[in-house]
Amino acid sequence: MIHPEHQRRAYLQAMGIDVWLPRDAAEPVAALASDAAGAMDWDELRRCVADCTRCALSKSRTQTVFGAGKQDANWMIIGEAPGAEEDRRGEPFVGRAGQMLNEMLRAVGLSRESVFIANVLKCRPPNNRDPEPGEASACRQYLERQIELVQPQVILAVGKIAAQNLLQSDEPVGRMRGRRHDLKGVPLVVTYHPAYLLRSPSQKRKVWHDLCLAKQLGSEVAA
Ligand code: URA
Repeated sequence: MIHPEHQRRAYLQAMGIDVWLPRDAAEPVAALASDAAGAMDWDELRRCVADCTRCALSKSRTQTVFGAGKQDANWMIIGEAPGAEEDRRGEPFVGRAGQMLNEMLRAVGLSRESVFIANVLKCRPPNNRDPEPGEASACRQYLERQIELVQPQVILAVGKIAAQNLLQSDEPVGRMRGRRHDLKGVPLVVTYHPAYLLRSPSQKRKVWHDLCLAKQLGSEVAA
């Protein structure tokens, strides 16, 4: 049983917040931190994200966008970052791209409520610019913990930012899509971002193939 004060300190440390200890403090905090980061439950993680000030986006956001959906979903969808509408409503993929994402999911018999949807960033970058590498790495622990908590059978990374960040790659989406990747043992499929599909509907066929691949990989895990 971890002492609550040690656990609190470890959460702060795991989230990169400096912790000052009295000189005679007995425990090496680094050791506690690695335990406690892995022990954070949904409510604790939600609170940490809501209060986060790890990067400058905390100053310009209206609110954080934690993620939404079924907490033990078979599918996890990971996008880039909240846009204007998401920042206003506090929910991921609620604008036009969100409607397209809902359509993509419906095409393979899934509802928005049956999956878990998250983003690489929990805060909106001003003018919807691409996330900076420092912002993505400041936010990464949150996404990693969400993946651990959901334990999805398959992850669908939508768009370049999600795919490149999750797979630590600089390959273009066109080369990453259409095949299986792995993220810590979880099958991961890359596909085009729904906002791109709105601009280039001719790519829908490829997305359909990616969704079918994700469905197949997810059911292999379930079997
Ligand atoms: N685009 C994303 O990548 N995420 C959202 O939440 C909304 C739009």
